[in-house]
Amino acid sequence: SKPLVVAVDGTSGSGKSSVSKQAAHRLGLRYLDTGAMYRAMTWWMLQHGVDVDDAETVAALAGKPEIVSGTDPLAPTIVVDGQDVAEPIRTRTVTNAVSAVSAVPEVRHRLVAMQRLEIERAAASGGIVVEGRDIGTVVAPHATAKLYLTASPEARAARRSAEINGDPGATAEVTRQELLRRDAKDSGRKASPLAKAGDAEEIDTTELTLEEVVERAVETILKRA
Ligand code: C5P
Repeated sequence: SKPLVVAVDGTSGSGKSSVSKQAAHRLGLRYLDTGAMYRAMTWWMLQHGVDVDDAETVAALAGKPEIVSGTDPLAPTIVVDGQDVAEPIRTRTVTNAVSAVSAVPEVRHRLVAMQRLEIERAAASGGIVVEGRDIGTVVAPHATAKLYLTASPEARAARRSAEINGDPGATAEVTRQELLRRDAKDSGRKASPLAKAGDAEEIDTTELTLEEVVERAVETILKRA
C-alpha cells in the first residue's frame, strides 16, 4: 500500500507531540518533530554567541550546524554536531529564542529541505507522522492526512508548565504569557506562519484526554489512507 504522510500542526501545548508519537507508534510509522529541529538550530546559534534578533547573521550561519533527527516514535533523538541536545533544546532560554530564529527564511529553507528528505526516506518503512506549524501548508501539502490541534490558552499553559518543572521562574502565568507571545510571533511572521490547511481536520483537545485525541487522530488518518 502507498506510504502514509501525516501532517500534524497546531499551537504550542495543544498536545501535538504526545498525540503524534502515539499515533505513529500505533500505526507503525516513523515520527519527525520539526519543532525540535528549529530548537536545535536555535540552541546552536546561542551556543555560538549569535544574537538571535540579528536576522542577517542567523541567515548567514543557517547552513552551519549538522542536525540529525532520529525518527523512532518511541525514542526520538536530536543530535547537533555530534552532541545529543534533547534536553538543552527544551530550556526556557531556547524556547523564548526559537520564534526569532524560525522566522528567518534561510533557516526555514534548509530545515524544510531536510524534512522533505526524511519524508521520502520514511516511504520505504510505511510512512511518517510529521509535527510542526507549517507541515500541512508548506512542507507536505500533499500529505495523506492533516490534523490541526488546538486547545484553550489555559489548558496549553497548564500542560507546558507541567513539562517545564524545575524552573522556579516558570509559573503558570509566566508560562501562559510566554506561550501566547510565541504563538503570536509564529502566526504573525511572513515566512510560512502557523496556519490551518484548508483540508486539515481540526481537533480541540481542551476537554479531551490524550487517549481520546489519539483515538480521533488514528481514525482520521485511517479514513484518509
Ligand atoms: O513544536 P515546538 O513548540 O517545539 O516548536 C518550537 C518552535 O519552532 C515554534 O514556536 C516555532 O517558532 C518553530 N517551528 C516552526 N515551524 C515548524 C515547527 C516549529 O517555525 N514546523
